[in-house]
This record gives sequence, C-alpha cells and structure tokens, in this order.
Amino acid sequence: MLISQLLLFSLAELQQLVYGIQVPFLTPATSNNSTGNAPWDLAAHPDANATSQLIFEAVNSLQQHWPHTRYRNSHSIVPGTAPVGTLLYHGRAESELPDAPDWTATDPEHAFPFAGDSATEGNNSTLTGCWLTLVATQPLKVLYFDGSSASKIPGEDTVDTQDLLIWGKVDPARWLDEAERLDDLCAWGTEFGLDGFLRMQMGFEIMLCDFSRGVEVVSADYLTALHPFNVPGNPQRPLFVMLKFEIIHAGSWHNLHPGDTRVKLDLAGFVSFYDTSTAPSPVPTRHGRERWGHRAAGISALDLKAVQARVREALTREPDNTLFRAIVDRYGDRLETLAYLLTTTIPPNVHERARIIQAQLRIMLTPYILYTARPSLSPADLNNSWAWALPVWKSCGTKHTAYIHASRALYARMTASERLLLRALDDTNHEICRVVVKMWVAGVHAGLDPFLPLEALSGHPRQDPLVVIQRWQTDNTALISWLDWAVWVKCQPACGVEQMCYLPTWPFFYNGPDDHRWERPQPRCIRRFEPYSQF
Ligand SMILES: *[C@@H]1O[C@H](CO)[C@@H](O)[C@H](O)[C@H]1NC(C)=O
Ligand SMILES: *[C@@H]1O[C@H](CO)[C@@H](O)[C@H](O)[C@H]1NC(C)=O
Ligand SMILES: *[C@@H]1O[C@H](CO)[C@@H](O)[C@H](O)[C@H]1NC(C)=O
Ligand SMILES: *[C@@H]1O[C@H](CO)[C@@H](O)[C@H](O)[C@H]1NC(C)=O
Ligand SMILES: *[C@@H]1O[C@H](CO)[C@@H](O)[C@H](O)[C@H]1NC(C)=O
Ligand SMILES: *[C@@H]1O[C@H](CO)[C@@H](O)[C@H](O)[C@H]1NC(C)=O
Repeated sequence: MLISQLLLFSLAELQQLVYGIQVPFLTPATSNNSTGNAPWDLAAHPDANATSQLIFEAVNSLQQHWPHTRYRNSHSIVPGTAPVGTLLYHGRAESELPDAPDWTATDPEHAFPFAGDSATEGNNSTLTGCWLTLVATQPLKVLYFDGSSASKIPGEDTVDTQDLLIWGKVDPARWLDEAERLDDLCAWGTEFGLDGFLRMQMGFEIMLCDFSRGVEVVSADYLTALHPFNVPGNPQRPLFVMLKFEIIHAGSWHNLHPGDTRVKLDLAGFVSFYDTSTAPSPVPTRHGRERWGHRAAGISALDLKAVQARVREALTREPDNTLFRAIVDRYGDRLETLAYLLTTTIPPNVHERARIIQAQLRIMLTPYILYTARPSLSPADLNNSWAWALPVWKSCGTKHTAYIHASRALYARMTASERLLLRALDDTNHEICRVVVKMWVAGVHAGLDPFLPLEALSGHPRQDPLVVIQRWQTDNTALISWLDWAVWVKCQPACGVEQMCYLPTWPFFYNGPDDHRWERPQPRCIRRFEPYSQF
C-alpha cells in the first residue's frame, strides 16, 4: 500500500509541477531528513558503486519489453497475481493439456507458431496444430523474474536469478535445462502456493506449474500451423518471416510503461540483486563494468541466503494488491529537451540560446525556488558559491518523500522492499536535483536568469555563455548517462509508418556472442509487412 501511495503522490505532485501549480512547501522540520547518505554538496558525484539509480530504473521498467530487451540480465524478483479472467495461450501438436509444468504466452501471436509438432513436420507448412486458449478461474499467484528471463543464451545471465533461487548457483552447463528448471521452480514454489512464473523473451509468458489448477480451457482450436523455428529450406519465406515478425510485433505492444499488465505485481515484495544492504558481495564484480556486464551470479553464498530469505518473506506476507504506477517521466521529457537545446545551434545568438536554456532550468525548479533563495551579491557568493541555493536543492531533492520520512509510524510500517524502493527514489531524485540545481546556479551566476539579474552588478565579470553551455552539456550528458532510462532509447530519426523500431530479440537475432550488435542492443527500424526487412 505504502509504495502505491508514494508513487501516486509523486505522480500527482509531478503532474502539478507539469502544470505549473505551486505546491505548499514543507516546513524545515520535515525537509531536514533527506536522502540516504548522499551529501548536500553540489560538486559531489554519486558513489561509483551506487545502485539506487539502477533499482529506480528496474522498478520503472518492470513488465516492460523494451528495457529488458536492451538489458537482458535479470536482477529483480517480484511476487504478483494474474487476476481471474486472464487469458493465456498455449500452442502444441495435440489437444490434451500438458500434464507437467509448461509454458503459456500472454499474447496469442507468441503462442501461435508453437501450434505444431516440430519433431515431425519437416518442411510441411500445412500441418495442423492445436491452439489452446486458457482462462484463469482463480487468482494465479506468480513470481516474476525481470530481464529476458525466458531467453536461453549460453554465457549470458538471463536465467541466473532463477537458478540462484532454486539451485543456489549458476551452472553454465545447464543454460538449456528448461524442463528441470521449471520442475524445480514449481517444486520450490509449492510451499508458497505459487501457480507459476512470469518471464519474458520475445513476449511475456507465464510458466504454469499445474494446468489442472486455477485455469480452464476456453477453446482448443485446430489451426493451420507453421512452426517457424525448424524450417529448413528457405528461412526467408514470407510466411516464416511474417510469423517471426508478428511475435516481436506483439512483444512491442508492451515496450514501455505500463508494459504487459496481465500480472499485478506486489511491489512491497520487490527483491533486487542490486540491493547492496542485502547483497553487498556483487559490488566488486560490477565495479568498472558497464551495465551489460552486471551479473547476479557474482553473489556470495551468504548474500544469496539473505536474498532467498527476502523472496520467502515476500511470498509469505499478505499480498496488498498494490497497483504500481510508474513515476511519471517528467524528467525524462525535460532532460531530453535540455539535451536537444544544448546541442542545437538555433537560434545562432549564443547568449539568446543560453537564456532559453536557463529559462528551462528555472521551469524545472520553479516549485522549489523559494523567494528567499537568492545570492547575497557579495563577491564570495558570486564566486561560484552556491550555498544560497542549498534550500532549492533540498526542497527539490526531498519533497516527494518527506511526508514518509517525517512520519515515524508510516516509516515503521514499511516492508524492507518498500524501504529499498524509497531509498532508490530518494537517491535518484537527489542526483537529478543536484545536477539541475548546479546547472541553474551556473546560469544565475552567469547573469542569465531574468529573475535574478546579476549582470547589473558592477565588477562582476560576465561569463562567456558558450562556456556556460559547454559546462551544461557535460553535466546533462553525465546525468542522462547515469540515469540511463529506457525511455531515451529510440530510433532516431523516428521510423516511418511502414516500420517499427525494434531491439534484437532472442532467438531470432542471435548470431553468437561475437556479434557486437547483440551485446549492446541498438534500436533500428524494420518493416511491418512485405517485403520484410532481413533479420
Ligand atoms: C533539523 O536540523 C536542525 C538544524 O540542523 C535541527 O535543529 C533540527 O532539530 C532538525 N530537525 C529534525 C526534525 O531532525
Ligand atoms: C503435410 O501435413 C498434412 C496435414 O497433416 C498432411 O496431410 C500431408 O501429407 C503432409 N505433407 C507432407 C509432405 O508431409
Ligand atoms: C525440405 O525442403 C528442401 C528444399 O525445398 C528439400 O531439399 C528437402 O528435401 C525437404 N525436406 C523434407 C523432409 O521434405
Ligand atoms: C567500489 O567498489 C570497488 C570494488 O569493491 C572498490 O575497490 C572501490 O573502492 C569502491 N568505490 C567506492 C567509491 O566506494
Ligand atoms: C574567487 O575565486 C578565485 C579563483 O578560484 C580566487 O582566486 C578568489 O580569491 C576568489 N574570490 C573570493 C572573493 O572568494
Ligand atoms: C532522520 O535522520 C536521523 C539520522 O539519520 C534518524 O535518526 C531519524 O530517525 C530520521 N527521522 C525520520 C523521521 O526518518
């Protein structure tokens, strides 16, 4: 409950900000307690080993296809529920339900190509297969593994979190041990009454433990089927390519917020391998590596026990049916606009450009710029001292969650997962506000802010606006790279109406580990219909 309140609060407040409505300022008593351990120093960069921004983006990316196609490695485990009435799809050769744990897809396009028998069909494109539609007749309790957790890729860590949870270690030789993995997950989950596991590859799937429990058959239709994975001969036949395309097409419907919403996640049970208070041991294994190379497998046996205990705790608490609303991407939009303004050369007059950018920085901070927050105009203040702006930063960096910190009762009721999310939000917000305030202060000191016109001050050397813009560029680029939000990963220029933007999705685009485009997936435009793009 708490986290939904927190996020709705942020949402409501951010919306107010967007529409420029002033919200009441907090009293000093409540704005005291700020964010984790981050210092109030405008020049202090975040700790290089910090994970709050990664946890923030993990929460922001749950159940979304785009971010987990880009970063395939799994780091989060979250309980959830598929409500009564949820439709699930399964394709196979015969009409009987599977009598062992097996997969279901949330999109028919993902299930349809499996409605055939890959063992016997050979080249036969006119085989029939059975396509089952199932419906949840009771709420299905599931556990979600983020990342491309259904992709089986040797040497990558897409299944690490599952294997660590049930087998206690990652064995590279068992990357394709799907049946046993699923059997063991289900056996492990019996204690918690788990019905299945939510995972993602080209689309989302729920691995059901028992097809005779909690689901009923809506229809079992014999369809003209084609299995796209096992067709020798001409793999670029139009039908074959169409089926491939339609699977990723369906997956793309869940690209960004709110993602695939079939399962309602219980964020109060969110567990992360990036949680350094529960699992500090992977810190050295991540140190100096890009996010593509972060692996949950770097965890120590002791820390793994702590993570496993957290998952057990999350599965045995009373679910509170929290419906997560992602934090509005207000800053996503603003920082992107800022990045554009900082690189464009229009208008050509540099001072005019700097003035426009300063106005944007002020707009971002408007709700936090107290009337009393102004430089004293003493030489020391103008000499790049920003102490006068500290209240602006504190207000910006703490206001969203101050009411939680201010209430001991509220804070005491939070689960460990909720505290982790709170910390991630606080730290991320702290850094966004640090950089934006730093940029705004630089503009004020350069005499670019119309409400604090310092250029009138005699003896104050005018700063070259080009130098200011260059510093802004450095700051903004560093912030965007630190946050690394999936909403910024786009096809540029945007795709035409005959195309869609995609990121390489296993297994279609996997050309082995040496394919650098595979290692760091980059978006590009592909055609939506014939003639299809080659992939
Ligand atoms: C906030 O800080 C001030 C000065 O540091 C201190 O006097 C006050 O007690 C603090 N308030 C809270 C609620 O911690
Ligand atoms: C292809 O499948 C259909 C339907 O099962 C069958 O009637 C036909 O004989 C098969 N053709 C070949 C070449 O196997
Ligand atoms: C499949 O098609 C290819 C090329 O059309 C042919 O060479 C091959 O013999 C066929 N295989 C079977 C099992 O029919
Ligand atoms: C980050 O972690 C590495 C590896 O544990 C350590 O060597 C380094 O000192 C840490 N950096 C900071 C700023 O704590
Ligand atoms: C301003 O900064 C310069 C260079 O950092 C320093 O030499 C000068 O003493 C400072 N002036 C004041 C008034 O702090
Ligand atoms: C504020 O921070 C102090 C010191 O970190 C802590 O002891 C206190 O419990 C916090 N207060 C609240 C309301 O979170």
